[in-house]
Amino acid sequence: MKNIVIKVGGSLLLTKQNKINHAFISQFCKIIKEGADYDQIIIICGGGSLAREYITFLRESGINEALCDSIGIEVSRLNSKMIIACLKDRAYPLVPKNLEDLSLALQFGKIILMGGIQPGQSTTSVAMEVAEYIDAHKVLILTDVQGIYDKDPDKDPNAKLIQNLTYDELHKLLLKAQSSIQSAAGEYRIFDRVSLQIIRRSQIKVLITSGYNLDEFRKFWVENKKISGTTISI
Ligand code: UTP
Repeated sequence: MKNIVIKVGGSLLLTKQNKINHAFISQFCKIIKEGADYDQIIIICGGGSLAREYITFLRESGINEALCDSIGIEVSRLNSKMIIACLKDRAYPLVPKNLEDLSLALQFGKIILMGGIQPGQSTTSVAMEVAEYIDAHKVLILTDVQGIYDKDPDKDPNAKLIQNLTYDELHKLLLKAQSSIQSAAGEYRIFDRVSLQIIRRSQIKVLITSGYNLDEFRKFWVENKKISGTTISI
């Protein structure tokens, strides 16, 4: 079986102003339908700025982190439903809420869309958990940056894109970047410790690339070619 998991960052599905990104969604769904040579495709949607908008409001209202996370999860599931609708009969009609639901959905041979599954983690972790569960050896992360940088590219103009990272190198990078904000609802950034643990133990290869240029994604998906970004592997 050749299986793949794709995580689509919420920042691609919704703009910073929380408007639905029509152009991205229609082009992404069109490319997905052009088909790739996989037995099982699972797409995990993030919650994006809409999730963070809810979470910020609730946190300011004194609501605990677990409840904030659960709202983020709902937004990611709503985004998944939107993509299900756009993919029409190519997609399984329900959003699995856990791995048990997923095991049932897998019986139908359709593209499966998922969002979050439990508080305390990101949809990136979901992508890795799902990849492990279906024996997918590859995960593609489409996000709003080119990949992983050696420094924060928003703060440092000299930040360089890292093309290849081993699990150990990623671990060191995560230790360096660690701060308490990274483990708050809405703030599990591009890669986290849970995700690293899973890819390391199951030797999953992860490719992170920008979803802003869908021609690159098409090259990967339809033409099976190498694309720019960061590859994390053993
Ligand atoms: P993400 O933060 O993973 O979505 O999920 P995103 O915005 O697409 O992520 P990036 O930054 O572009 O990669 C939205 C929120 O939903 C909650 C978390 O609070 C998370 O920040 N969540 C998601 C969970 O609590 N559990 C999950 O399994 C998934």
